[in-house]
Amino acid sequence: MLRRLVNAASVLALAAGAAVAVPGVAGAATFNVRDYGATGNGSSNDTPAIQRAIDAASAAGGGTVLFPSGTYQSRNTIHLRSDITVQLDAGATLRGAGNDQYDEAEDNPWDDYQDYGHSHFHNSMIYGDRLDNIAFTGDGVIDGGGHLITGNPDDGEADKIITLTRCDGLRIDDITLRRGGHFAMLINGCTNVTSDNLTIDTASDRDGWNVISTTNVRITNADIRANDDALAFKSDYALGSKLPNGNVQVSDSYLSAVCCNALMFGSETCGDFTGYDFERITIDGSNKSGLGMVSMDGTVISDVHYRDITMTNVRSAIMQKVGTRRRCGNNPGVGRIHDITYENITSTGQSSNNFTATLWGESGANNKISDVTFRNVDLTVPGGNDDDATGVPSNDPNNYNPNSIGTRPAYGWYLRNVNNVRFVDSSVQFNSGDERAAVIANNSTAVVLDDFVAERSAGPRDVLLQNTNGYCVRGTNTSGDALRVSQTGSTESCSAPGTRYEAESGLCEGTVDSNHAGFSGAGFCNTTNAVGSAQEWTVTATQAGTATLVFRYANGTTTARPMDLTVGGTPVGTVSFAATGAWTTWQTASVQVPLTAGANTVRIAATTANGGPNLDYVEVL
Ligand code: GCU
Ligand code: CA
Repeated sequence: MLRRLVNAASVLALAAGAAVAVPGVAGAATFNVRDYGATGNGSSNDTPAIQRAIDAASAAGGGTVLFPSGTYQSRNTIHLRSDITVQLDAGATLRGAGNDQYDEAEDNPWDDYQDYGHSHFHNSMIYGDRLDNIAFTGDGVIDGGGHLITGNPDDGEADKIITLTRCDGLRIDDITLRRGGHFAMLINGCTNVTSDNLTIDTASDRDGWNVISTTNVRITNADIRANDDALAFKSDYALGSKLPNGNVQVSDSYLSAVCCNALMFGSETCGDFTGYDFERITIDGSNKSGLGMVSMDGTVISDVHYRDITMTNVRSAIMQKVGTRRRCGNNPGVGRIHDITYENITSTGQSSNNFTATLWGESGANNKISDVTFRNVDLTVPGGNDDDATGVPSNDPNNYNPNSIGTRPAYGWYLRNVNNVRFVDSSVQFNSGDERAAVIANNSTAVVLDDFVAERSAGPRDVLLQNTNGYCVRGTNTSGDALRVSQTGSTESCSAPGTRYEAESGLCEGTVDSNHAGFSGAGFCNTTNAVGSAQEWTVTATQAGTATLVFRYANGTTTARPMDLTVGGTPVGTVSFAATGAWTTWQTASVQVPLTAGANTVRIAATTANGGPNLDYVEVL
């Protein structure tokens, strides 16, 4: 079965490096705020001088507004202009004040549709609307100083450090934002945003960075420590329309959230979201979701891919929910979530108050959660619940939080109203014995657990299917005993068209061996150690299109073993097959390839004298 390969566009765009127009340094000239009267003495109000420097740079067609080392108290709102780079040198701090002289919050006819902080932009330390080509750079700091408001501010009070609406071309590199009030940074309706090496420390205040109704975003090397949400992607109605979101990549970053969500979609979810890649992210601490995704206000969220993510101290590791709040000005219906993948994810949860990882769709045919794959997702949860009841928990469909759904009757995963959800090589374990099932799927279709390992429930079952047709469960407990599967009103379907092609069922130019544990099927292909040694499969696609080939392999050496890949005889690239650490350590490497409808010959051939790795299978998604 060939599923539409949803992330092909974003992967190709990334490869071409063309998706985000990075703002250049705006203008050549430098405008030193000291030359415009700023003192940097930490006590005078430097805002008028800073504004003069910005306006002079703007009048000159753009330029760099430079803050040399020093503390610049800023008692009023700074109005940013297009084509300005704000450069905060090391030792420079722009600091907020508590004198209540920031711009007043503007009226917003659409402020019923989201929180106060989302609905008002002017009351910020730095504000700009419809700006192009702007940047913040340097090793300096912008610090609210403990004066920014985390709730609803009064006139003259600011509740954000940086607020930018409808911007095009924003770069935020290296700076630190501290004590941000409601939001250290709020952008809404922007496009072409890049950020490298940004630090946000607002763990004593509220949100880190809210990226609202924004497209074309690259965030690398961020370190965001928030109290409420650390990095949140939202789409509200504060600009008076439903706007698109997507083409976003976040990688190599650290996130923590004291109270709430670390990496979050929502809760404001008016416009659709598509094309997100999150890679190499460490999350430590989050009292709600580590990886949260909710469609509350009619949003369709699709094509989101999480890869190589480590979570610790997270209360609800993974949560997806479709709710029916419908809080937007466009009379939205109920949304949906589809085509989401999680690969190489671990979470070790908090020791108490756990919320089981959950996928909770709505029951309408178009409101389910569908086409979700978990590969190599390993969750360790607190456990310790001795109630083996299996009823559907309570749900408040207007609430997005993990606790809007009552205690789940499963300790590992609870799935409701989902379709085509696959777990491959994934596991759940608990810290203390639990009588609930490891996994329950309710009112769902096509739920597949493949090579799933679940710590044995102290209750009567490990996996329970309720009204779930087309399920297939293959797996064991941690001692290697088969999972105890029970069902009510559900039919098993393990003979559905397989997407996995074992190496031993294809053509192996080498030997089919079974001496290194951990392979699937009857063995693996030990390719001959020679240039050109190959493995071939014939894979079937139901329709032409881009597919993902997932190769499972082990390479117990310290050197990658690259292989050239051809499909139907046409070269489509090289797969590197990095060292896995041991011949018994199996990993996957995924590539996107074009397939034609019907049979396709997939062939990989070693490019070095070491030959290929040991190959277990290829899966076609
Ligand atoms: C070892 C290992 C084989 C592997 C080979 C290699 O002999 O046991 O499974 O194929 O190394 O380097 O290719
Ligand atoms: Ca070999």
